[in-house]
Amino acid sequence: MKRIKIFDTTLRDGEQSPGCSMNLNEKIEVARCLEKLKVDVIEAGFAISSKGDFESVKTIAETVRDCTVASLARANTGDIDAAYEAVRNAVDPRIHLFIATSPLHMEYKLKMTPETVLQKTADMVRYAARYCSNIEFSAEDATRSDPEFLAKVVTAAIQNGATVINIPDTVGYATPEEVKELFSYLIGHVENADRVEFSAHCHNDLGMAVANSLAAVSAGALQIECTVNGLGERAGNTALEEVVMAMKTRADRFPLQPRLDTTKIFRASKTVYNIIGQSAPINKPIVGKNAFAHESGIHQHGVLANRLTYEILTPESVGIGKNAMVLGKHSGKHAFAAHLSELGYELTQEELAKTFERFKALCDKKKTVNDLDIEALVHDKSRGSESGDYTLDRFDVHSGNCATATCTIRLKKEETLTEEVSLGDGPVDAAFRAVDKIVCPPAHTFENYAIQSVSEGKDTLGEVVVKLRCDGEDYTGRGLSTDIMEASILAYLNAVNRLCAEHRPEGKEA
Ligand code: KIV
Ligand code: ZN
Repeated sequence: MKRIKIFDTTLRDGEQSPGCSMNLNEKIEVARCLEKLKVDVIEAGFAISSKGDFESVKTIAETVRDCTVASLARANTGDIDAAYEAVRNAVDPRIHLFIATSPLHMEYKLKMTPETVLQKTADMVRYAARYCSNIEFSAEDATRSDPEFLAKVVTAAIQNGATVINIPDTVGYATPEEVKELFSYLIGHVENADRVEFSAHCHNDLGMAVANSLAAVSAGALQIECTVNGLGERAGNTALEEVVMAMKTRADRFPLQPRLDTTKIFRASKTVYNIIGQSAPINKPIVGKNAFAHESGIHQHGVLANRLTYEILTPESVGIGKNAMVLGKHSGKHAFAAHLSELGYELTQEELAKTFERFKALCDKKKTVNDLDIEALVHDKSRGSESGDYTLDRFDVHSGNCATATCTIRLKKEETLTEEVSLGDGPVDAAFRAVDKIVCPPAHTFENYAIQSVSEGKDTLGEVVVKLRCDGEDYTGRGLSTDIMEASILAYLNAVNRLCAEHRPEGKEA
């Protein structure tokens, strides 16, 4: 049975955009979420681009069982060798190779004639097809290419073994009508077009990525490339949650459907935002805080009479629960574990014990603990420390509008306690300076500090994200506490520990 395949490139096109980098564990966490979502293909990275990318593509290929795993490669043998080496142990490995086909890209970026691009396409697809039978070919900047030349390149790719043909709108320039025309033209004119799957890969520079992807589907595309939350270069890629819910909600217009489990969308979105230290804009379709809120009296009245008056899809369909408080300080560990499992979390015994302990502590501090709080506790990794990390033992902070802020901090590393004090431009600055005095991290720039409340109420948990940059790499730290100073210190310490772990001289224990 034909259906629309979802190719997720959060870990490649999404991750390569500024401020969205992830470490290996975070990428694995995202890959697991994508597998639960039942995407068809996970593009796990660009294997040749760095040692870290190679390792993460390889690990994901060896971890994920229910999806095809792809690595990107330029049209050269070195890239293709690395891509295959990284994905070869996947249940269904795919090499995704690309070359640009627009006059601008060929002349100024590749410095190649169209004839050379055509020849390279044939040679490199044939080269990749010796490794595996699942080969995707992308014509970069396809929507600004000459359609006749593009058809020749696509024909060469199919003749030499490509099984998926991707037509990217690399700079987000095309309109839905143009996309539909281009796909119809290619599918109608290219020899053996019916033997391959056509795929759309749209960028959102003019806000048309989702509309363009749907236009491609209307013209016969069978694969959509997208990212969770629409992450990606510049204005991002097609947002997975939006394009999938558009197809599901308008099934009357899209007879071919994706296999996705939409009830896992909200969780995937939160996981990705949490990892990159961002949150959804409140009016973001599907996953924004207001996406299902009905504020005005007229709308509320209508929804009460019949939900369908103003609601075209339900929060439940994307996995947004009611956040009802069903557990409290008297709940036992079994009830807690059962509730976590209802929410879709499977924790190890050790993780469960730690999370339960923190849940109990939170119940003492906060009047009501709801699912948002519990999920924040599950996601919070800041308390987990690696050997050699500094952990927070205690802090004492003083600030006021007529006094210079001061912070005294005591950190623990293995069994050693170290205390320092610092002044600062406000309590957060004073605390971070005190941490620096103890840890002495390598030179870095301070990129971002963000704080947000997890749920409602004055006693809410505060979640702080701190981002540091060193040698072009981002180090993100997170902290969670009902005390925002504590959350800030935990987040900073988390980032600094990661930075120090990466810059430890090789072979040297912390
Ligand atoms: O936007 C683009 O053209 C790409 C290709 C490499 C597929 O990301
Ligand atoms: Zn792209």
